[in-house]
Amino acid sequence: MTTSILFVCLGNICRSPTAEAVTQARLAHRDITLDSAGTGRWHIGEPPYGPMQDAAKQRGIPMDHLRARQVSRADFNRFDLIVAMDRDNLADLRAMQPKGTGAGAALCLMTDFLDEAAPQDVPDPYYTRDFDGTLTLIEKAAAALLAAYDAGKLTSR
Ligand code: 4NP
Repeated sequence: MTTSILFVCLGNICRSPTAEAVTQARLAHRDITLDSAGTGRWHIGEPPYGPMQDAAKQRGIPMDHLRARQVSRADFNRFDLIVAMDRDNLADLRAMQPKGTGAGAALCLMTDFLDEAAPQDVPDPYYTRDFDGTLTLIEKAAAALLAAYDAGKLTSR
């Protein structure tokens, strides 16, 4: 059974496309489909932010094929799991989540799979300018997410 995961940040040009590309690069044999989207609409149709792409490319992770889109209510029925990059993104997702039974995707934070010493939010490098630091955290979190999948701990429908 295929598990589908949507990564969500604010602009869909820094953190969530990086989470998608990093997880894709580590996917190996696993039956998981990935996508990413932003809660905001400013960058719809744009490729990932140049400095973010450059940092990922340094680590052998291609991102230039990705294009930004905005998350929609339909995504809650299309994905098993929606992974927010920070608590603001998670709050925005909860506010737009369709209500009622069978309302679809489980919601969580990207850092939920790391130990408690890890920060809760993936810092936004669009503002911090620390593209490498964000990339390092996303790589750790992606490895932990895939370990949770391997252990059967990811919710799926
Ligand atoms: P992201 O970073 O949420 O990690 O893609 C941002 C990129 C652009 C903007 C905000 C956050 N912006 O306001 O344009």
